[in-house]
Amino acid sequence: MEIFKDRVILITGANRGIGQSLVKALLENGVKKIYATCRDVAQLPDFDDRRVIPMRLDITRPEHIQNAVRDTSDTEILINNAGVLHGGTILEGDVVGMEYDMKVNYFGTISMMRAYAPLLEANQPGYIINIVSIAAYSPLPTIAGYAASKAALFSATLSVRIELAKKGITVHAVNPGAIDTDMNKGSDWEMPSPDSVAIKILERVATGELDIVPDDIGQHMYSAWKEEPARLAKIFSDIYHG
Ligand SMILES: NC(=O)c1ccc[n+]([C@@H]2O[C@H](COP(=O)([O-])OP(=O)(O)OC[C@H]3O[C@@H](n4cnc5c(N)ncnc54)[C@H](OP(=O)(O)O)[C@@H]3O)[C@@H](O)[C@H]2O)c1
Repeated sequence: MEIFKDRVILITGANRGIGQSLVKALLENGVKKIYATCRDVAQLPDFDDRRVIPMRLDITRPEHIQNAVRDTSDTEILINNAGVLHGGTILEGDVVGMEYDMKVNYFGTISMMRAYAPLLEANQPGYIINIVSIAAYSPLPTIAGYAASKAALFSATLSVRIELAKKGITVHAVNPGAIDTDMNKGSDWEMPSPDSVAIKILERVATGELDIVPDDIGQHMYSAWKEEPARLAKIFSDIYHG
């Protein structure tokens, strides 16, 4: 995967789940440096590699983003992985949770893109890789606020892709189905490990694929949506109504 070789990467939410797995996979692919950012650096695993630079970054905190931009001006690839999920339907879900999902998943990620776009342009060719969700294509009512935040993020990702197309920055959207991380704790679905999915994400980015669905559950849903959007809505309706 040549595009990662000798490159400088910043990733959010690097302390666990898909973020942690992406750091490990990137280290296997010859990167020069990874700014492994997270809210609490004490929670960052020991990657046992001097190329990993731990950094505190809460993507909802403008001062954290400002400091990060100042200290990571050599970044060439930005991976917006940080995300939160509050369960609940539109009619009965906790509105505070819905607002927080929007604050982190949508506004936090667009703050990162706004802050890093000039820097990536200066260091081009640059890449933005946004970890979105298959729920951006069609909502599952039990996670309606999360789905809305990811639909908003998907829209922003496609918008920024066009905005940056002539500035030497490629913008990838990654829309996984279900991965075995803390976000799905308690689920009885059979899900792939974040380690296996991280490798697939990087492989797809390396081939230049812009809209990436890296797992089988996601692929099944994406194929249904591509055939006819109502088909994915039907799958989610069947899941919701049991
Ligand atoms: N797992 C899935 O099935 C699945 C499917 C589709 C998309 N995704 C997306 O994949 C991404 C990674 O999720 P995951 O499955 O790895 O879940 P996870 O294990 O719950 O990890 C979420 C990560 O986001 C970080 N985070 C949350 N709020 C943050 C903030 N304000 N600033 C910076 N970091 C923050 C968390 O940090 P703390 O440890 O400090 O909380 C954690 O590192 C998310 O965007 C998620 O929506 C996941």
